[in-house]
Amino acid sequence: MRSPEKILITGANGQIGTVLTQTLQARYGQDNVIASDIRAEETFSGQFERIDVLDVKRLEKVVVDRQITQIYHLAAILSAKGEKDPQWAWNLNMNGLFNVLDVGFRQQLRKIFFPSSIAVFGNFTPKINTSQSHFLDPNTVYGISKAAGEYWCNYYRNNYDLDVRSLRFPGIIGYQTLAGGGTTDYAVDIFHAAIQHGTYECFLKSDTRLPMMYMDDAIKCVYDMMDAPYEAITFHGAYNIGAINFTPSEIAAEIQKHLPNFTITYEPDFRQQIADTWPNSIDDSLAKKDWGWSPEYDLAKMTSEMLKQLNKKYNPKGNPRQS
Ligand code: SER
Repeated sequence: MRSPEKILITGANGQIGTVLTQTLQARYGQDNVIASDIRAEETFSGQFERIDVLDVKRLEKVVVDRQITQIYHLAAILSAKGEKDPQWAWNLNMNGLFNVLDVGFRQQLRKIFFPSSIAVFGNFTPKINTSQSHFLDPNTVYGISKAAGEYWCNYYRNNYDLDVRSLRFPGIIGYQTLAGGGTTDYAVDIFHAAIQHGTYECFLKSDTRLPMMYMDDAIKCVYDMMDAPYEAITFHGAYNIGAINFTPSEIAAEIQKHLPNFTITYEPDFRQQIADTWPNSIDDSLAKKDWGWSPEYDLAKMTSEMLKQLNKKYNPKGNPRQS
């Protein structure tokens, strides 16, 4: 009889990892999901292992001891932070992935999830409805590592029959945790600032349009792709996925529908240059065709959910801020 799934998540303390861990625990049972991170356990009830993904011996020991069948490999340094120390980011992002792929192959894991990013696209990429098959021309060390990672996932699938699945995340927006080290982080920070201070200084220009996605859609997207039959995954690199796209001034206007006195100012920094190389919108028709991708949140629905949830967090006794 096939043994039950036992899932290891790397980078589980991160923005997506925190939420993915909780939803995987709810789905597979707390004992069948092992959260791991280089930082000691912070937020989890349930199973936790401290793992540095660069320590392949420790990674493999946990996989063997815990009889892991799938790895969700989220540990990575994002675009803005990576530019501060490119070699460190490259080492962690690439060798961390190699270790996961090698352990996955040696231990014959059933599936591996690797998140890629819109950062694989760059200056030569058409910005509107960027196509799945456009060549990759990343400008950040993060984007370079994700592009190379996509090629390696494809390589392990084709040469070692390892079932690695990947998609290109846009900016992810959720209330559960802050984002960290990315160029799209403003779209999370703005909600916290709106509720706590009624004003936000944005590090991107008002008209910088970027692809984004609400956290619930991001989790659904991972599930839909990972649950799809093996044969349905016709593309062995990373799938383009789209959901919403907006500019800082558009999201500010949406927040103002709920908090009329909210104000935004603009003070672009080095992240502007990164954002300027990324797509405005994404053509995700292959993900729709292969495994039925379909997002549920638009800008209005996401904004009202974010404000509702963060109001509960910052104003637990009711009394929501109306500015
Ligand atoms: N959210 C990421 C970043 O900004 C993009 O994948 O780096």
